[in-house]
Amino acid sequence: MVKDRFGRPVKSIRVSLTERCNLNCFYCHREGEWHRHRNEMAPEEVERILKIARALDIRKVKFTGGEPLMREDIVDIVARAAPLMDRDVSLTTNGTLLSKYAQDLKDAGLMRVNISLDTLDPEKYRKITRNGDLKDAMDGVHAAIDAGLNPVKLNMVLLRGINEDEIERMIEFSAETGAILQIIELETPVERENTQFFKKYHVNPKFIEEHLEKVADEINYNELHRRKRFRFKFGSRMAEVEIVRPMHNSTFCMYCTRIRLTSDGKLKPCLLRNDNLVDILGPLRNGASDDELLEIFKEAILRREPYFK
Ligand code: 5AD
Repeated sequence: MVKDRFGRPVKSIRVSLTERCNLNCFYCHREGEWHRHRNEMAPEEVERILKIARALDIRKVKFTGGEPLMREDIVDIVARAAPLMDRDVSLTTNGTLLSKYAQDLKDAGLMRVNISLDTLDPEKYRKITRNGDLKDAMDGVHAAIDAGLNPVKLNMVLLRGINEDEIERMIEFSAETGAILQIIELETPVERENTQFFKKYHVNPKFIEEHLEKVADEINYNELHRRKRFRFKFGSRMAEVEIVRPMHNSTFCMYCTRIRLTSDGKLKPCLLRNDNLVDILGPLRNGASDDELLEIFKEAILRREPYFK
């Protein structure tokens, strides 16, 4: 296993498959891809890069976008990844196209999904996503559960004045469905922290965490992410809730074990930085050998450094 200069091992890779998305959430960080391009990797190219990752003992993959289900070859990509990434194959999706794909993805080897769901109010959903239909996302949640893509996690980005008041309802929904709720702090690179946008919508989840600590029926610990998991009883059902706090959180960075791959084939050491990418798709297309690609991958790992120290 390769460690970076800070002693952090890399255990997972997060692969953006496209910048295209059928929604347009106003706060979206686009996985840190702030440029526009359409140079997407072919399934064989994704597979080849994952083989290199596997040679470095990276055995977990998460596919993202854009919206990964915009790729018509998504099932093929998952099928190629599954034998290599035997510890975890997951996908983050807005869920709106999921009812069509859930079973095929499961059969191809997808283990679980994260579904973006910031609100249970159709009007708010339409506003946040700039014209999305909540029902499509809900159908996706249910299809994922029916297909056994467990655990289904719901990503709720906390937005001031928009969905702060829906936390209780979301916890209840997570009990009803059996999905795990992840309440996510709005994140942005430090140079954008003083924008009107960020100041307007960012909520410090600390107060919510403190509140959940008081009212939870049980609290245990998610070893992998080193954060608390709050559990709530609803009759015979349980809701599970985690709070994801990336901003100015040195613990979050200290325990980061992931590397990213942009949809145009650049290894990306940190979500919040774009000045240290390492192109791997270019060399691959120019005929680089496995050994050469391995060196490129190692270089990207060496460029990893904690964003919040
Ligand atoms: N801050 C925090 N989380 C975000 N996401 C998208 N943009 C942001 C942001 N600015 C989350 C969404 C989605 C996942 C891919 O990233 O919840 O599910």
